[in-house]
Amino acid sequence: MKNLENKVAIVTGGNSGIGFAAAAELSAQGAKVIVTGRNKESLEQAETELGVTGIQADQTDLKSIDSFVEQVSSQFGKVDIVFLNAGIAAFAPVDSASEEHYDSIMNVNVKGVYFTVQKLLPILNDGGSIIFNTSVNAHLAMPNSSVYAASKAALLSINRVLAVELASRKIRVNAVSPGPVETPIYGKLGLAKEEVDGFGAALGEKILLKRFGQANEIAKTVGFLTSENASFITGTEIIVDGGLTVNPVV
Ligand SMILES: NC(=O)c1ccc[n+]([C@@H]2O[C@H](COP(=O)([O-])OP(=O)(O)OC[C@H]3O[C@@H](n4cnc5c(N)ncnc54)[C@H](OP(=O)(O)O)[C@@H]3O)[C@@H](O)[C@H]2O)c1
Repeated sequence: MKNLENKVAIVTGGNSGIGFAAAAELSAQGAKVIVTGRNKESLEQAETELGVTGIQADQTDLKSIDSFVEQVSSQFGKVDIVFLNAGIAAFAPVDSASEEHYDSIMNVNVKGVYFTVQKLLPILNDGGSIIFNTSVNAHLAMPNSSVYAASKAALLSINRVLAVELASRKIRVNAVSPGPVETPIYGKLGLAKEEVDGFGAALGEKILLKRFGQANEIAKTVGFLTSENASFITGTEIIVDGGLTVNPVV
């Protein structure tokens, strides 16, 4: 059954990884889907492969977000679902993390997400659904992840506060927090392939289900949270991590 017929959904960063899988899932559920990203080529690929609408937008640039919202408004009118997925990851120990490291992560993962939501609110229908893509890193004490973890923890706080502020409009606000998921993000960390493989193997051992997640497993959770099946769920977080965060200490 198609749960999302007549709904319009936005997936930021829908041209890659988890966002691409979520765009596919929401589209399969019957929604008209708009995806954003900076890369024109992969946006066009998403349009061709998924039948979605790609709009180039850089969420670190508030003017670019304004122009994106204007385009959505003129082409689609109002929207029903916003999956705030676009984000970056980078890791550095506290004693050598640069200002650039801090600013680049916070600008994309917090400031960009925050103002994207804010600017979309006027065209989001009452009764709509907002979902933040955070990370289990918000809960874990993984070395070198202080800035990335803080960026995702910030989204969890924003998630709860917006659930309260938007409740009068019956807008449900929730977060999905993935554990390690196989996506192109690991190739963007600036590490050698052996380092990524070693990191992946060590992490895989700590996941109860002994494997990385697949992007479509996060996408299914997003599909659930946006649907009528989740009509009484707001202000909360679903952790989708194969049991990583409950791995026993002994
Ligand atoms: N993979 C994991 O293990 C994992 C685990 C927990 C949480 N997450 C979160 O999941 C989300 C998606 O990550 P992914 O693993 O699917 O990685 P990915 O394949 O690298 O996708 C990241 C997406 O974000 C977009 N993006 C990055 N910077 C942007 C900007 N300034 N403006 C607009 N779009 C931007 C990228 O598009 P362009 O490059 O075209 O801009 C891309 O579509 C991120 O928020 C990440 O933190 C991932």
